[in-house]
Amino acid sequence: MNGQLRAAAYDGTSMTRQTTALVTGGAGLIGSHIVDAARAEGWQLRVLDSLERQTHPNGRPAWIPDDVEFVHGDVRNRRDWERALDGVDIVFHEAAYGGYMPEIAKFIHVNAYGTALMLETIRNRNLPIRKIVMASSQAVYNEGAYGCAEHGHFYGQTRPVAQLERGEYDVQCPICEMPSTPVPTDEAAPMGGENVYAISKADQERLLISFGRATGLPVVALRYSCTYGPRQSIFNPYTGVIAIFCTRLMNDVPPVVYEDGRQSRDLVFVEDVARANILVATDDRANGGVYNVGTGNAVEIGTLARTLATQLGKDIEPRIPGEFRPGEMRALISDISQIRQLGFAPKVDLATGVDRYLEWIAEQGDVGEYFSNAEKRLRKRNVVRKSSERTSA
Ligand SMILES: NC(=O)c1ccc[n+]([C@@H]2O[C@H](COP(=O)([O-])OP(=O)(O)OC[C@H]3O[C@@H](n4cnc5c(N)ncnc54)[C@H](O)[C@@H]3O)[C@@H](O)[C@H]2O)c1
Ligand SMILES: [Zn+2]
Repeated sequence: MNGQLRAAAYDGTSMTRQTTALVTGGAGLIGSHIVDAARAEGWQLRVLDSLERQTHPNGRPAWIPDDVEFVHGDVRNRRDWERALDGVDIVFHEAAYGGYMPEIAKFIHVNAYGTALMLETIRNRNLPIRKIVMASSQAVYNEGAYGCAEHGHFYGQTRPVAQLERGEYDVQCPICEMPSTPVPTDEAAPMGGENVYAISKADQERLLISFGRATGLPVVALRYSCTYGPRQSIFNPYTGVIAIFCTRLMNDVPPVVYEDGRQSRDLVFVEDVARANILVATDDRANGGVYNVGTGNAVEIGTLARTLATQLGKDIEPRIPGEFRPGEMRALISDISQIRQLGFAPKVDLATGVDRYLEWIAEQGDVGEYFSNAEKRLRKRNVVRKSSERTSA
């Protein structure tokens, strides 16, 4: 226990000085909406962001307000952390390398090492940070939770590649091996997602939570489900299923749906995620906790592709070539009862959220289609693989 660390509970009302919050990754989807939500609280904002080229090929996005102090830096650089953390009360750590990419070392470097550097800087300099809220992910789970008609509730395991190669995608009951039905996944589900991104997010989360326990500094990790909304990069072909499908459809190219299209995700609107961040930052009951943030509902990816086509007025069926990504989950419905107890409820349903995203994307001028080239790269590196059974043409 580092007694010198000030671990005073944050109480927004009793503070005389204006609260200063640092948002790492504040140029990105979730970070930029946290910036907006925190400004609405009257806080002073600083952003640390490296403006990753893949996400921001045109440099600093216009949505970062002028009164926000922008530190152009990298979470892998100690000096940048020192600059960014100086005078800060609350940290929202959102910067990360994400998606299904062939890299291995970079995930660990940006996500795990970057978080470690943040914690070390805070400890070594005895910085009077009052709370750290960090972006974890539903990806830290092995699989979602399931129900077998005969044997009841169980937590799924990562599906073996051999099973996926046979084109058998459903998670099977560990007792009777029958296909089972996804049910909401709570925070007690085992961690251990089997892809590099998942491993790096789990590292981040454990580093943070154990640091909080050891030092008494209030920390919270939020396991977001798939987040979407305005400002989701239309340039990055590796992340954001809604962004990828929309940019393809707008270029009259069918979305590529993996597996059989019946895999499902809990899609949460970015403003709801931002609100969850402000909530846990200002509620002491959240300290030391790990919370799912999602909607509690899931949509099948094949259905999503068709719905987006309809909303964009395109008569385009998704392409379902019978491919899969090793280590991917079959289904994840976020059980949000824990964060609901703190007063959180998602406000934007999928239809409304997609409308808002499509309105935004329509204002972005020409939207390129970057996925096709990316896909070739992923196939070559075996990040995307083919089942022997073709699901459909
Ligand atoms: N979007 C989702 O569906 C989702 C789901 C679960 C968890 N998350 C997590 O939420 C966080 C934010 O994700 P997002 O969707 O807003 O992503 P994003 O790509 O839109 O934003 C990430 C931001 O981080 C910046 N960044 C990347 N590497 C950096 C580095 N080395 N140093 C400094 N800045 C760097 C990027 O320039 C970008 O602005 C991430 O930690 C991600 O793992 C996202
Ligand atoms: Zn069973």
